[in-house]
Amino acid sequence: MGEFASCPPQAVKAAEVICGPVKLKAITDRRGSAVWKATGPMAAVAIKLGTGAAAEVTAREASVLDQLPGYTVTAGRASEAVWFVTPWLNGQSTWDLFRAAREGAAGRPTALAGAVDLCRAVAGLHATGWVHGDLQPTHGLHTRMGVKLIDFAWSWQAGTTPWTVFEGAIVHLMAPELAAWIAAGPQPVKTTRAAEVYALAGVLWTCATGGWPLDYRAAGIDRKEAGAEGLRDAIATGKLPLSLATPWPELQDVLRPVLLSGPADRPTASELAVALVAVSR
Ligand SMILES: Nc1ncnc2c1ncn2[C@@H]1O[C@H](COP(=O)(O)OP(=O)(O)OP(=O)(O)O)[C@@H](O)[C@H]1O
Ligand SMILES: [Mg+2]
Repeated sequence: MGEFASCPPQAVKAAEVICGPVKLKAITDRRGSAVWKATGPMAAVAIKLGTGAAAEVTAREASVLDQLPGYTVTAGRASEAVWFVTPWLNGQSTWDLFRAAREGAAGRPTALAGAVDLCRAVAGLHATGWVHGDLQPTHGLHTRMGVKLIDFAWSWQAGTTPWTVFEGAIVHLMAPELAAWIAAGPQPVKTTRAAEVYALAGVLWTCATGGWPLDYRAAGIDRKEAGAEGLRDAIATGKLPLSLATPWPELQDVLRPVLLSGPADRPTASELAVALVAVSR
């Protein structure tokens, strides 16, 4: 497994309670957070391990999974690390589902149906008072039972205060007002449903075009030079233009106003689903 973190025996044991004897496959290992797929004769599960600063993030995600309807989790600590086990979800990510659409018009009906499903999944989450907080092209999995979201590390339920500091999830999908709040404070910054709808439209834009929604270069910004904080501060101005690539104009015509409007004028996730249903196939 090379540089990949090693999976704590306690986590493997917890997986084997559900799956029977398992084989592990390393999936990702980034910034102190590693994921394995553990497959056994009875089931497959995801094992996620957070070490260092990611330990608390992983603990928080386990707690969210424990509270969300439709999810199950077993969690524990192994010295300084935190792990959890949750059922493996079979299905393509939104990014993968859109691949054929990015390559030609024949893939559009499948992608569009997936876009509607993703919006409905987010709408369902919002209806329970939760905000996911880190929507990304790979954080929606299109299963036979509909879209299931993953990576709930930055999720919170209205009325609770689950963190002391939130510095934002992926910067490219950060709504301008959220970027401005993070840049200027005060903490704790809380994610909102409106900012999530911006991220949702941004995910779909990215999946359709193959690139992030904003055209940094047109605004004279060098992504590498600016770094994540520089990009966040530029996004906070609300003045960065959208990319001009229009491989799928009918879909982008629905997403564009969502990405350009302020939080009060954005549709809900459910309204965005309705607008997408009307896009011609
Ligand atoms: N329950 C699951 N079912 C299926 N695949 C999963 C599951 N959990 C995680 N994965 C896979 O592992 C990848 C990484 O998971 P996740 O996004 O939760 O980890 P992460 O460490 O936060 O990654 P990143 O920092 O890149 O967002 C996902 O993109 C997905 O491919
Ligand atoms: Mg992730």
